[in-house]
Amino acid sequence: MKINVSTHADAQVLILPLFENESLLSPSRKALLPWLEQSSASECPSLGKKGRVMLLYAPAGYSGIGVALVMGLGRRDEKASEEDRLSLVRNLSGRAMRKCREFGLSSVALSLKDIREIIGREGKLVCAVRESACAAGLGLYRNLRFKSDAEKADSDPEQLLFLVDSDTDLALQKAAKEGEIAAEAVLLARELVNCPASHLAPEDMAREAERLASSAVRCEILNGDDLRREEMNAFLSVSSGSSHDPRLIVLEYAPHGHEDDDPFVIVGKGLTFDSGGISLKPSAGMWEMKGDMAGAASVLGIFSALEKLGIQRRVIGLAGCAENMPDALATRPGDVVRTKSGKTVEIVNTDAEGRMVLCDVLSYAQKRWHPSFLVDIATLTGACVVALGPVVAGVFSRSGAVAEKIRLAGRMVGEEFWPMPVHERYMESLKSETADFANAGSREGGACAAAAFLSQFVDSDTDWAHLDIAGPGFLTKAVDNCPAGGSGFSVRTILELLR
Ligand code: BES
Ligand code: MN
Ligand code: ZN
Repeated sequence: MKINVSTHADAQVLILPLFENESLLSPSRKALLPWLEQSSASECPSLGKKGRVMLLYAPAGYSGIGVALVMGLGRRDEKASEEDRLSLVRNLSGRAMRKCREFGLSSVALSLKDIREIIGREGKLVCAVRESACAAGLGLYRNLRFKSDAEKADSDPEQLLFLVDSDTDLALQKAAKEGEIAAEAVLLARELVNCPASHLAPEDMAREAERLASSAVRCEILNGDDLRREEMNAFLSVSSGSSHDPRLIVLEYAPHGHEDDDPFVIVGKGLTFDSGGISLKPSAGMWEMKGDMAGAASVLGIFSALEKLGIQRRVIGLAGCAENMPDALATRPGDVVRTKSGKTVEIVNTDAEGRMVLCDVLSYAQKRWHPSFLVDIATLTGACVVALGPVVAGVFSRSGAVAEKIRLAGRMVGEEFWPMPVHERYMESLKSETADFANAGSREGGACAAAAFLSQFVDSDTDWAHLDIAGPGFLTKAVDNCPAGGSGFSVRTILELLR
């Protein structure tokens, strides 16, 4: 889909957002759609009800924009926050694009005046345009890769035009482009998350990462032998039952003049399948664990966008990719490993594998670089889903300021994070008779125990955050602008933070 900002109203359909009990006919709309006044539907008072959709057609032979798509927004809320208003814009854009697809309308226009109406006088137009452009791309996403009749599906609109009435504003142009780039990054992550383990093993993740290499992005892949050389025994213990060799993906983006900066380091959990290992998961819902590489998928999504967004910062992306399977060579409950850090861990539950991968990758990151900021992204615990539900992710940090930064960046782009504790006392549940600590403990506070475990491998003076995206990373039910399955959650937040 092409996205443009123009004064020239060249489109098939104009989106007309409408609040409940407000008039469809404004002077600017009458100017764009002179035929609208003649339509008796324009008088209908309930057109603006939330979720209501109405198509209006011009009389035959009319040569300007001949279709109006009225989208009900519900009652106007004068007290809505900036973030609420932006999410209204996102929902409208995604929903409108899907409707246009349904009705076979391929070139779509949205007037900036209407966006201004939604975000209010104080709202930032550039943000709204960026969100609208991004949501248009995200809202059209469908998981079609393995559908035999994918080519029979309705085709997506080809063009989205943001209508402005004075000379094209470069800032708006740029915002639309940024939204488009962000959407592509999220879609890459969604596609990877939705890809089944039969078609996406650690070596496939590595190949996907190599595709991102360019003059600005360097990609390096460590295989099982390399990991042994690096003494990443915790990481290795996870994949010993799999026929697939593990991979550690290392991506580096260093724009000119920033080659020697302390990097912003992003670590992703990349379990291409998590059966639980010998501590086998129950069969119901186990298939969803094809999405246990959502953190790694986010890292790849983020890296696909850094250069296009012109991020002026050195960024390192690490993705620890492995498959957790039961087998004669699999790690047994009770086995002990010496992690890369030198600390020993008793693996009392082979299903607590994400932290085994992450702890070694975190150690590796701090040994090789001096991160200015360290963030890990992981579908780490079912307990986090119990605590926060399917749409909010946990942000764990020793620093309240760091957690708040992430929460606020997330709010701007429609991804919700809620602060959770990193506290040494959760280590009490990870006591081991045999090793320095165990990898799992009681069910209570499981998400916090996992974070406490990871904190054992992060220097206390490093600005670090752990994002547990187990809930929103893989959706069991569709939400606004995302069908069930992989969501690409966290890609936008990190890009916003970097920006
Ligand atoms: N990948 C799972 C966590 C998960 C659960 C992600 C549900 C998405 C949806 C993780 O590896 C896991 O199995 N965690 C265990 C930890 C426990 C054994 C301490 C869990 O949450 O039950
Ligand atoms: Mn697991
Ligand atoms: Zn897992």
